[in-house]
Amino acid sequence: MWYYAAFVLFLLGQSTETFGRTFEIDYNYNCFRKDGKAFRYISGSIHYSRVPRCYWKDRLLKMKMAGLDALYTYVPWNFHEPKPGVYEFSGNHDIEAFLQLANEIGLLVILRAGPYICAEWDMGGLPAWLLAKKSIVLRSSDPDYLQAVDTWMNVFLPKMKPLLYQNGGPIITIQVENEFGSYFTCDYNYLRHLTKLFRQNLGDEVVLFTTDGSGLPYVRCGTIEGLYTTVDFGPGTNVTAAFEVQRYSEPNGPLINSEFYTGWLDHWGEPHSVVATERIVKTLTEILDHGANVNMYMFIGGTNFGYWNGKKKLFIFKRVTDYFLFCHVSVFKNTKSTILYNWVQWAGKTPDILYVWLSSKVKFMLFSFSSSASYKKIPEGPIPPTTPKFAYGEISMEKVKTVLEALDALVSFGPIKNIYPLTFDDMKQNFGFVLYRTILPRDYRNLTTLATLFNGVRDRAYVTVNGVFQGILERDREMSINITGTNGAHLDLLVESMGRVNFGRYNNDFKGLLTNLTLNGEILSNWTMYPLDIDGAITRGFLNEASTLKASNCASPTFYKGSFLIPSGIPDLPQDTFIKFPGWTKGQIWINGFNLGRYWPARGPQITLYVPMNILTASSLNNVTVLELENSPCETAKCFVEFVDKPILSKTKDFITEMSLFSKG
Ligand SMILES: *[C@@H]1O[C@H](CO)[C@@H](O)[C@H](O)[C@H]1NC(C)=O
Ligand SMILES: *[C@@H]1O[C@H](CO)[C@@H](O)[C@H](O)[C@H]1NC(C)=O
Ligand SMILES: *[C@@H]1O[C@H](CO)[C@@H](O)[C@H](O)[C@H]1NC(C)=O
Ligand SMILES: *[C@@H]1O[C@H](CO)[C@@H](O)[C@H](O)[C@H]1NC(C)=O
Ligand SMILES: *[C@@H]1O[C@H](CO)[C@@H](O)[C@H](O)[C@H]1NC(C)=O
Ligand SMILES: *[C@@H]1O[C@H](CO)[C@@H](O)[C@H](O)[C@H]1NC(C)=O
Repeated sequence: MWYYAAFVLFLLGQSTETFGRTFEIDYNYNCFRKDGKAFRYISGSIHYSRVPRCYWKDRLLKMKMAGLDALYTYVPWNFHEPKPGVYEFSGNHDIEAFLQLANEIGLLVILRAGPYICAEWDMGGLPAWLLAKKSIVLRSSDPDYLQAVDTWMNVFLPKMKPLLYQNGGPIITIQVENEFGSYFTCDYNYLRHLTKLFRQNLGDEVVLFTTDGSGLPYVRCGTIEGLYTTVDFGPGTNVTAAFEVQRYSEPNGPLINSEFYTGWLDHWGEPHSVVATERIVKTLTEILDHGANVNMYMFIGGTNFGYWNGKKKLFIFKRVTDYFLFCHVSVFKNTKSTILYNWVQWAGKTPDILYVWLSSKVKFMLFSFSSSASYKKIPEGPIPPTTPKFAYGEISMEKVKTVLEALDALVSFGPIKNIYPLTFDDMKQNFGFVLYRTILPRDYRNLTTLATLFNGVRDRAYVTVNGVFQGILERDREMSINITGTNGAHLDLLVESMGRVNFGRYNNDFKGLLTNLTLNGEILSNWTMYPLDIDGAITRGFLNEASTLKASNCASPTFYKGSFLIPSGIPDLPQDTFIKFPGWTKGQIWINGFNLGRYWPARGPQITLYVPMNILTASSLNNVTVLELENSPCETAKCFVEFVDKPILSKTKDFITEMSLFSKG
């Protein structure tokens, strides 16, 4: 009896929860209708793949309390299907948990499901293993591409179905593809195929949409009937003209800017970009005055941990490790005027301020719109408090082994031998590093030119002869260097992938040595290639037992280690921190085996990397592993890294970006 009653209550609970939940487009009144009522959203972007899971709740609460109705998030396919048929949906990959959390907190979700997302993410979210077929045409009706898309979506989309708004979940609309009109294929059959695939898995009710740059050519190739067209544009854009582009494709229905750029991207070797406050305010106000829906891109930027950053479309520089550089959301307890003052003074240098600024700005706007029918309620209560940061100070580091000395422990499989060089993709190496080795066929006592044909080094090669550093070849920058060596010596190139192009025609971004190398004009042959699994080796603790090296005075890629204890007697430690590399050049860093990302203070603009507290432990030594690819300070000066409590995101003077000049995804 009790069971029966509980079951009925359960059913009642179910039905009251989902009964009458509808979300649709009203073409007569140019708006959305949620449960029958006119609705428009002010939303913000956050990517779960760029935020440690332990912070999801904190960040979502902050978005809620900033007055947002909804969040936009991308789904990176390569984050979930690392190998064909191998799926990851646990831990930081647990998108269902993320969406459920949003639901509990009361945020609606606009899901940008891919398959391609751009997002300044490695290969725009497409798995690198697609390149196993060399001639594959990504984002087209290429049958091998479609086959992989279908397999993935038939796994992924059914997980999303119960999370649709109609079914009691938070997802109100789903994006298919992304800025497809900026891609060269203009393949409507592909869009038709995707539409069918999404409909089969999700049903007919959910609103499916596309996003494109606010120019007619983009919209023409980017969308088809059955997918609702939205546009994206940043501050300084003529809002009326931009929405006229949307109206070209959608004469009726809600106006939507799916990406309003509250910041801009940083690239290695370029100044830190900052967007002028007044420009954001002015354009955002205009968008809201048009009665449009808007998504702030990004609201919470997050971090490209590990190797996940993408690469610029013109393939010159690589994305930096932090994303939109205001990720580490926390709050200063200042008055509003002080905040604005700080914002102008600091011009985006501290993530905290932008968040506070955006939060108060959004709240302010919601207040001014609160008299209209669709905006009545702003969450009560203060903006959630700062996530504290702690300066653990200097950690002394010691040299352990060069990559060549550690080679046996680092090789994941192989080595592979071939007369001419193979790509990473030939060897099924999706990220990281491969060591390419050949034997010098004769003496080269004078400086002799080692060159890449047709700019074929993807992306950087650290060259040594018998372990002695010779120079660096770099895509688009350094096509040749001079070396010396003797007959029979090992010529080694440690080749680094710096992230795959995430936008445009060159999205099929193969890595490694794509073309032959010549020495003194002769093609080098008989290569031995060692695909490296450095992350695995670090997890296995390969450096733990290694004794430290005597300084050998040759700069070649080398591992360093250090350790530290979280101080006792201070409450609430461990806390987040930022790590700085005084005197170091370029490399990769792991803490307790977690791959934090790339550092490159020699090129900038980003100087510190974000270290989330969840990777630190108060109960044992914390281990820091650094792979310095060029020069460390350790031969000549004090050898340390330093934990500080403020980020340094700008090496030099900030650069005010004219964002209306760009369109991005
Ligand atoms: C903005 O675009 C509209 C429509 O194309 C045009 O009428 C208007 O003159 C433009 N405004 C400015 C300031 O260029
Ligand atoms: C090396 O350089 C020296 C001095 O320029 C020159 O005399 C010699 O012929 C060169 N040797 C070879 C093998 O090219
Ligand atoms: C290599 O040496 C040649 C001859 O000395 C010189 O012309 C060339 O500029 C050098 N190349 C580089 C990259 O240093
Ligand atoms: C390297 O050169 C050889 C001989 O010319 C050629 O057959 C081969 O295709 C080249 N390999 C690459 C990757 O370019
Ligand atoms: C490459 O290896 C083959 C087979 O071992 C050998 O015959 C050839 O001489 C080698 N080529 C060079 C340039 O060392
Ligand atoms: C750090 O390394 C030591 C061995 O050198 C190990 O005992 C310890 O557990 C490691 N700490 C963490 C947090 O993995």
